[in-house]
Amino acid sequence: MRKLTTVLDIQKMYQQGEKITVLTAYDYPLARIMDQAGIDMILVGDSAGSVVAGYDNTLPVTMDEMIYHTRAVMRANQGALVIADMPFLSYQIDVRDACLNAGRLVKEAGAHAVKLEGGENVSATISAIVNMDVPVVAHIGLTPQSIHRMGGYRVQGRREEQARQLLADAKAVAAAGAFALVLEGIPADLAREITDTIDIPTIGIGAGVHCSGQVLVVHDILGLCEKYSPKFVKVYADLAPLIKDAVSRYIEEVKNGSFPGEEHSF
Ligand code: KIV
Repeated sequence: MRKLTTVLDIQKMYQQGEKITVLTAYDYPLARIMDQAGIDMILVGDSAGSVVAGYDNTLPVTMDEMIYHTRAVMRANQGALVIADMPFLSYQIDVRDACLNAGRLVKEAGAHAVKLEGGENVSATISAIVNMDVPVVAHIGLTPQSIHRMGGYRVQGRREEQARQLLADAKAVAAAGAFALVLEGIPADLAREITDTIDIPTIGIGAGVHCSGQVLVVHDILGLCEKYSPKFVKVYADLAPLIKDAVSRYIEEVKNGSFPGEEHSF
């Protein structure tokens, strides 16, 4: 049985220069397999909205949906540190709301930590949640909840003033007490500069190799997101054709009466 990975273990990996591995999960079966494979942290991302629920983006995802997904993951998990995403509108209105919602993810769903998007603008919120002893992961760069401001899923920080703001954001969330920082969709050189500047681990997604760890959406690495695959995704197993083939064979065998056979019957 795996020993539970804690925030202290993540800090130790960071200090020893060991890369930190993170994948998303939203349900029991995949979380169980990922935990058994030895992933360091599982992120119950609000990407569940696009990946599992089929929404166009993450904005419609609710607290109740995040609690549902997080509970399923927690039932499967033994050893990974589980981070639950705070969905749009669960932390932007005021700090009290944010603390209550972060608390719900821990108390009702069992998450070990929460993640929220933003930099300087959410640093007071991060401090308040950390002061409740709930570990926080921050997330800057291409923040999917800001899709309408960004005008789409675009690489951030290419322009000088944007890069300067992202560096300021990184320093602000680290000073506010976040224990890790997701860097999404930013140039690799900027990710390296941020990683070298702050004293908490950076977890990259589309942010190059210099981050302290990496995160990807599990459905992307398993080839289950057929609609669109960003440049930063590596498909480690192309499962969609395998699943289609299995389903087609099942349909055929039920139609032609070769399933169920004697061995499947009582
Ligand atoms: O929701 C999510 O899956 C995320 C990752 C892409 C970092 O925020």
